[in-house]
Amino acid sequence: MSESLGPAAAAGAKKLHIKTYGCQMNVYDSERMAEAMGAEGYVLTDSPEGADMVLLNTCHIREKASEKLFSELGRLKPLKLANPDLKIGVAGCVAQAEGAEIQRRMPIVDIVVGSQAYHRLPAMARAAAAGQKSLDTEFPPEDKFEHLPARPAQARPTAFLTVQEGCDKFCAFCVVPYTRGAEVSRPVARVLAEARALVARGVREITLLGQNVNAYHGTEDGADWGLARLVRALARIKGLERIRYTTSHPSDMEDDLIAAHGDEPKLMPYLHLPVQSGSDRILKAMNRRHTADDYLRLIERIRAARPDMLISGDFIVGFPGESDADFGATLALIEAVGYGMAYSFRYSARPGTPAAGRAPVPDAVADARLQQLQALLTRQQHAVQQAMVGRELSVLFERRGRVAGQWVGKTGYLHAVHVNAEGLTPGTIANVRITQNWTNSLAGELLRHE
Ligand code: SAH
Ligand code: SF4
Ligand code: F3S
Repeated sequence: MSESLGPAAAAGAKKLHIKTYGCQMNVYDSERMAEAMGAEGYVLTDSPEGADMVLLNTCHIREKASEKLFSELGRLKPLKLANPDLKIGVAGCVAQAEGAEIQRRMPIVDIVVGSQAYHRLPAMARAAAAGQKSLDTEFPPEDKFEHLPARPAQARPTAFLTVQEGCDKFCAFCVVPYTRGAEVSRPVARVLAEARALVARGVREITLLGQNVNAYHGTEDGADWGLARLVRALARIKGLERIRYTTSHPSDMEDDLIAAHGDEPKLMPYLHLPVQSGSDRILKAMNRRHTADDYLRLIERIRAARPDMLISGDFIVGFPGESDADFGATLALIEAVGYGMAYSFRYSARPGTPAAGRAPVPDAVADARLQQLQALLTRQQHAVQQAMVGRELSVLFERRGRVAGQWVGKTGYLHAVHVNAEGLTPGTIANVRITQNWTNSLAGELLRHE
């Protein structure tokens, strides 16, 4: 809900419901769109029923993710028929990829806005109110962030901050270079200004976002800053206690960033470093630009700088041409790394990507491999989590738990921790003795807090 609006204004305000799919960058974009619409007099509402506008912020990464848009639009149709004043908008990567096709297939859609044009959403909403449909999937020359309202007070002590968008890697399976465009980094001064504004409004942990965040190269006074230098500058902001970044590509993991993990205490010991496959043949076919051995040596260097680093990854199984031996190499790589967290997906052919036309692995084979891989990853995650029991860890508390007197926060390793405690507030950082592993979270006892 918009905090700038008093109850009287809120009573007359228009209601906006946003549904977000896909990655953290979409979560960030949804927040910024909500803020832009807040400046137009909209307040957020939890359900599409009774809303004046419903905005679907979509993901195109896998076929299933994309299809969610059309099933959701099908569900919204009766609402639109009952209330023709309801405006429906589609944003994000499906909007970018499919553009006008969305309105052709689903005439109930009033607005289609791509990922780089959403600062124009308020104007599109005004046009929709006047009965006009609009579509904007341009990559405009102006920087959308400069046309969005300043960040308002934050209800949570953690925040996302997009520093880099787009991707130049062109992995053979991936739509991101097409939906998000070429790699662009935001200038250093603007990132620092947004971070300071977030911290001034109560944020204590910032996660820097980018489709290829460790390829960040921002400018400052004509100089080129990599991610490590940006992290070190952010670490000097008083009141900002924790810094994270995601997602990284192995071939952009430079020495100074690895070094920062060793000597910058505000940089959290959690690194999402997708590898996708452990087979060199498949990595090459995927155009990943590194071998399995390169990745393993990189993990060694990272752990030499920060021995307790929790490594997280992404895996694709059933990529075209993947043999049993290739899959076996992926399992061997997983065994060698020991993942604390991982996401794994069955390959999904995406129109327009280089791998789309290649002969698929039979569904049953891919499904069986995915199950085997997930079983191994789950065992590793449980082992890493179990090893936290007995340790004393710093926890950033975010909110009350569901049970009275309970608070929930996150460790540096991003595990959720429940404690029984009073007198905490969102943003309290405290030491906790981990006592139990509850599978989806940890339980602990509060030791000391500020
Ligand atoms: N570098 C990106 C990756 C985005 S996509 C980032 O910033 O997150 C997230 C993950 O989705 C990828 O790492 C990959 O494992 C998976 N993925 C991408 N395209 C896919 C496809 N066509 N089929 C299955 N999984 C895919
Ligand atoms: Fe997609 Fe590869 Fe770019 Fe990640 S690095 S966004 S997987 S093309
Ligand atoms: Fe999906 Fe776009 Fe993110 S395709 S994963 S929402 S960049």
